[in-house]
Amino acid sequence: MATLTMWKIFMALLCGMALPLMPVTLARLHSTTGGGGGGMSSGVLGPGSGGGSNAGGSTGKDAHVKTKDVDAVEGKSVSLPCPITEPLENVYMVLWFRDNAGIPLYSFDVRDKEARDQPRHWSAPEVFGSRAKFHFDSQPATLEIKDIKRHDQGIYRCRVDFRTSQTQSFRFNLSVIILPEQPIILDRWGRQLNGSQLGPKQEGDDIVITCRVVGGRPQPQVRWLVNGLLVDNQNEHNSGDVIENRLLWPSVQRNDLNSVFTCQALNTQLDKPKEKSFILDMHLKPLVVRILEPPSSMIADRRYEVACESSGSRPNAIITWYKGKRQLRRTKDDISKNSTRSELSFVPTTDDDGKSITCRAENPNVNGLYLETMWKLNVVWWWTRGRAQRIRLAKGDRERKREIERVGNEKNKAMPTATKR
Ligand SMILES: *[C@@H]1O[C@H](CO)[C@@H](O)[C@H](O)[C@H]1NC(C)=O
Ligand SMILES: *[C@@H]1O[C@H](CO)[C@@H](O)[C@H](O)[C@H]1NC(C)=O
Ligand SMILES: *[C@@H]1O[C@H](CO)[C@@H](O)[C@H](O)[C@H]1NC(C)=O
Repeated sequence: MATLTMWKIFMALLCGMALPLMPVTLARLHSTTGGGGGGMSSGVLGPGSGGGSNAGGSTGKDAHVKTKDVDAVEGKSVSLPCPITEPLENVYMVLWFRDNAGIPLYSFDVRDKEARDQPRHWSAPEVFGSRAKFHFDSQPATLEIKDIKRHDQGIYRCRVDFRTSQTQSFRFNLSVIILPEQPIILDRWGRQLNGSQLGPKQEGDDIVITCRVVGGRPQPQVRWLVNGLLVDNQNEHNSGDVIENRLLWPSVQRNDLNSVFTCQALNTQLDKPKEKSFILDMHLKPLVVRILEPPSSMIADRRYEVACESSGSRPNAIITWYKGKRQLRRTKDDISKNSTRSELSFVPTTDDDGKSITCRAENPNVNGLYLETMWKLNVVWWWTRGRAQRIRLAKGDRERKREIERVGNEKNKAMPTATKR
């Protein structure tokens, strides 16, 4: 080799030979020396003319090289390692072959010592073409193949030719994984569910949903998760290309609200599972209804504001007020996150004493269920002229009003004439 280099330098000096011509000279030199592995004629992008069948070397000791299984995902990249155990200056060429082909599909050429910092890469256009790149400076050196195709599946071999040491080979069985399609979710009548909401359901309803997955190699596992926990990985239907897994989730309860139902299809650890999730929406009945601080007694003909609050309903409860059977309509609603508050404005009359006010909370989406609370009115007023006449408040009669209020508060105690009917 040293003599070759010397000769090259000599020739270059002598003839002032331009660099591009040098490889041609070299190639001829190689073919004359009959060197093994000179599969490529240097500088020319294409399988070499000389010694191609030699170079393949699918025969002999290479056949005994252990095969490593490598999985790759269609459309993604894969790196096939080809460890170079000696410094690059001892390397002659690295060649990649497919199956039993005698012609390499990739060559990495450092035969030209002078141009070692610019090794020559060549990738057969009919195999990987620009999708493949050999990274000789990574640890280990790898052949990176991008955008893996289905037909890339096969046996690959890398062969490292050293200048002096023995050739090394590595074999790979590349399996191309085809991801399944996105799962489709069907309701119990076989209609496709769109969006990401399941329901709304009511308490006690069953959830019956089917996950359908098409395609995938190897066959994907199709499974259901609820809130991230695996609950069902039994397929009910499997016709090879179409797999269905039906989930029966009986009797949903209030605390199942916002549960996440996820169907996953997976056939490799190399990529995320394909998945589709739904969030359970529910219609819930109100849990609580109460009148807030009802006045223990009220003065006739005076206006009062009383609030009633209900929570637990979804959507928010509708609150209605009744006096006996008659609905009271002078109300104002205030709806917050999970509670409804309704304020009733009314003027009790002396006739109302002993009657009941009802606050009813209901969710019209939930069949026939409502909650009620009642409050018995205690109305007081002022008798004059020996119980012959009730005082009515004239507008602006502040003094009297104040007096009656005081009477109301001290009912049956301080003022014997102020009493219930
Ligand atoms: C390569 O792997 C596939 C499975 O992916 C297997 O069927 C085949 O027999 C393997 N071939 C060799 C030569 O190991
Ligand atoms: C969901 O979308 C698919 C396709 O876009 C459509 O055929 C189907 O009718 C939709 N399902 C419902 C329940 O709207
Ligand atoms: C209403 O919401 C609050 C906070 O958002 C929660 O603490 C409370 O438990 C809820 N009440 C009911 C009855 O769901």
